[in-house]
Amino acid sequence: MAQDTLTITDNRTKQTYNLPIEHGTIRAMDLRQIKTGPEDFGLMTYDPAFMNTASCRSSITFIDGDRGILRYRGYPIEVLAEHSTFLEVAYLLLFGDLPTEHELKDWVGEITHHTMLHETTKKFMEGFRYNAHPMAMLVSTVAALSTVYPEAKDIHDPANRLHQIKRLIAKIPSIAAFAYRHSVGFPYVYPDNDLSYAENFMNMLWKMVEPKYVANPVLARALDILFILHADHEQNCSANAMRCVGSSHADPYLTTAAAAAALSGPLHGGANEEVLKMLDEIGSKENVPAYIKKIKEGHGKLMGFGHRVYKNYDPRAKVIKWTAERVFEVTGRNPKLDIALELERIALEDDYFIKRKLYPNVDFYSGIIYQAMGFRPEMFTVLFAIPRTVGWLAQWQEMLNDQEQKIARPRQVWTGYEVRQFVPMGKRSPIAAAR
Ligand code: SDX
Repeated sequence: MAQDTLTITDNRTKQTYNLPIEHGTIRAMDLRQIKTGPEDFGLMTYDPAFMNTASCRSSITFIDGDRGILRYRGYPIEVLAEHSTFLEVAYLLLFGDLPTEHELKDWVGEITHHTMLHETTKKFMEGFRYNAHPMAMLVSTVAALSTVYPEAKDIHDPANRLHQIKRLIAKIPSIAAFAYRHSVGFPYVYPDNDLSYAENFMNMLWKMVEPKYVANPVLARALDILFILHADHEQNCSANAMRCVGSSHADPYLTTAAAAAALSGPLHGGANEEVLKMLDEIGSKENVPAYIKKIKEGHGKLMGFGHRVYKNYDPRAKVIKWTAERVFEVTGRNPKLDIALELERIALEDDYFIKRKLYPNVDFYSGIIYQAMGFRPEMFTVLFAIPRTVGWLAQWQEMLNDQEQKIARPRQVWTGYEVRQFVPMGKRSPIAAAR
């Protein structure tokens, strides 16, 4: 009997099957041969929310949830956060290796010269209500770029794909900054090509009437590190959305908009905004025990805690905590940090959280830094979407180049009626659910 196989006996038919095991998986399609007769469709797997299903092969990001390990193309996240810049990491995620000095210079030059938005896009954004949520503005505007670059539909041309990838990486901060300026009622600030990626983002956010914006280098580096930490995270909800929508061969702008829409949910990228609301609700360190008691009684979740993969401390949260201290040296300490640290201290000692392996995740501390920098909570998920655009595009490109991939179309377990006779209008009874 070959070693890497799984032997299954179907007790309904006493038939035995040997399925190959590869990379710790069996192929779901290998189960379809397990039938009770020629009419039987064959076995499927049932896995709501894909708790135990690998949807693809990938070499972009590796996570070991039990050991709290996160690596981009084999490089530990802590090392990249210390030694790299975000655009250097973007190059690594997209092309698979760290760029040489010359390659990085060209790459930064390319991105820098694609930061402008078409004036019609600016006018499109001016049409949003004064109080439009910046994340909804970002999702809509990224989708609208599909109308500006119709040639992006040709996703089979690698050069065209790369051109759109550069445009998206370059323009997402411009869209984010314009959304912010719209939400505070300030005129939009155009990109400044003399500045780095993070500095230019700060310029478009915070330049007022001064002739030239000068970024605080500590805050610029903190943003760059935060962008590195948020760049990719293997098959999370929004990456899955990117791969699923991209598998229909939609253009990269509409596909990225779908991924950003997934990120906006409070259980995913929207959690950083919810963490600040939670800290505001708690109000002080003294109120933490009562709040934790409420969570343990099943009233809500501790936002910024827990993770589908990490059953240990999220390695990104550690780097964010270190970065927070650097930011506070410039901005002054955010008092919310004390509440967050007390929440973490108590939760990490409490059996309810220990038993469920709930640790702070990437969203727990990031909002505290953003707030100290002057961002309102509505902007926090937008700040997540900027760097994650690189990860989505890397996952999208890998999916398109994977010969095994085709349009995503899961099956279902049918729980509805068998065939029914049509009921004439006069003989129908009101549907309780519709009331
Ligand atoms: C991100 O997937 C990624 O990689 C995502 C991300 C990325 O970079 O792309 O890392 C970014 O989305 C981070 C997560 C941000 N979300 C939050 O902080 C929201 C709060 N966290 C939870 O909603 C939850 O932990 C999830 C959504 C993150 C994970 O949910 P799972 O894996 O489906 O876990 P679960 O809901 O099945 O929870 C298992 C148990 C349950 O208790 P029991 O039913 O067994 O009694 O743990 C409990 C849950 O109720 N639980 C929590 C909790 N998270 C899980 N209880 C209190 N507070 C929490 N935060």
